[in-house]
Amino acid sequence: ESKTLKIASVPGDGTGPEVTAEAIKVLAAVAEIEKFHFEVEPLDWGGDRYLRTGEIIPEGGLDLLRTKDAVFLGAIGHPDVAPGILEKGLLLDLRFKLDQYINLRPVKLLPGVETPLAGRKPSDIDFVVVRENTEDLYCGVGGYLKKDTPDEVAVQQAIYTRKGCERCIRWAFEYTRQRNSPKKMLTLVAKTNVLTFGHDLWYRTFEEVAKEYPDVKTDYNHVDACCMWMVKNPDYYDVIVTTNMFGDIITDLGGILQGGMGVAAGGNLNPDSGGVSMFEPMGGSAPKYAGQNVINPIAAINAMAMLLEHSGFPIAGRKIDAAVAAVTGTKMKSQAAGKMGYSTEEVGDLVVESLS
Ligand code: IPM
Ligand code: MN
Repeated sequence: ESKTLKIASVPGDGTGPEVTAEAIKVLAAVAEIEKFHFEVEPLDWGGDRYLRTGEIIPEGGLDLLRTKDAVFLGAIGHPDVAPGILEKGLLLDLRFKLDQYINLRPVKLLPGVETPLAGRKPSDIDFVVVRENTEDLYCGVGGYLKKDTPDEVAVQQAIYTRKGCERCIRWAFEYTRQRNSPKKMLTLVAKTNVLTFGHDLWYRTFEEVAKEYPDVKTDYNHVDACCMWMVKNPDYYDVIVTTNMFGDIITDLGGILQGGMGVAAGGNLNPDSGGVSMFEPMGGSAPKYAGQNVINPIAAINAMAMLLEHSGFPIAGRKIDAAVAAVTGTKMKSQAAGKMGYSTEEVGDLVVESLS
């Protein structure tokens, strides 16, 4: 196999560069074992460059990404840049312009990792959220009327399209079928009792697409009930498919159930042929820990495993998963920054040593 895996890396802000370095260190080690070639092109996009140049995604940047097999994103968020600018100008723009319509967020408790749920073991917390990633309240459609007056009106519209929900729902069915867990169940999470237009479209589409997957059990939860159930009975779930905004919220809940931002990772997938996907640790740039070699790189390493799994190197991805589980299970004291018992670089080294 002579295919070279071409990755664009955007280490980004704060602790992003430190965790990205560890993920790439692990990539290099697994590539050596699995005997494949890779190239990483680092891109300095993020808060510092924006403050220097006023530019977030430079001219030609998207076309450059389109020549790659995948994008790796460390973290964005800079203390000197107003909230929303980099989020919208970098992260959301990449998701939208590369049409990464699936946000895949596994919620998996690894061995040795502490969950806030009393008495829960890794076998109890192992489900996946498929979050729609291009529509809903994230479209940025809306406006003001009589801004800055006592009569101000603000409108923020949730956009749902048949095409947008259908491609996400179909992908989720396909994924549930392939995951093939004993439950083999796809749960639609929405709010059909209140969002009687948009979520009715989702519900009807879900029911229709379900007919093509008679082997997959279907299920529906309102999002508020889902939040209770995720805490009370996380073992109930196999795969959840949901809208963008609800998916954002429930995957932070999922993230803490699996041990927090030190471990949670996600993939922004464009599964179409020629599509470019982007993988990221779920946590932010944690500027207060930047440059101290104390941040947890496990989430970034997990994101690299996902990148490999979805870019044609599934065995390499699974080897990283196994090495990470060995390190969390037998070495690390905690998943919290500064409390791991090891530095950022040492955790990366431990994962490398555990690869086989
Ligand atoms: C996430 C983040 C982003 C989102 C923010 C930073 C725009 O919270 O990836 O979940 O809301 O999608
Ligand atoms: Mn979020």
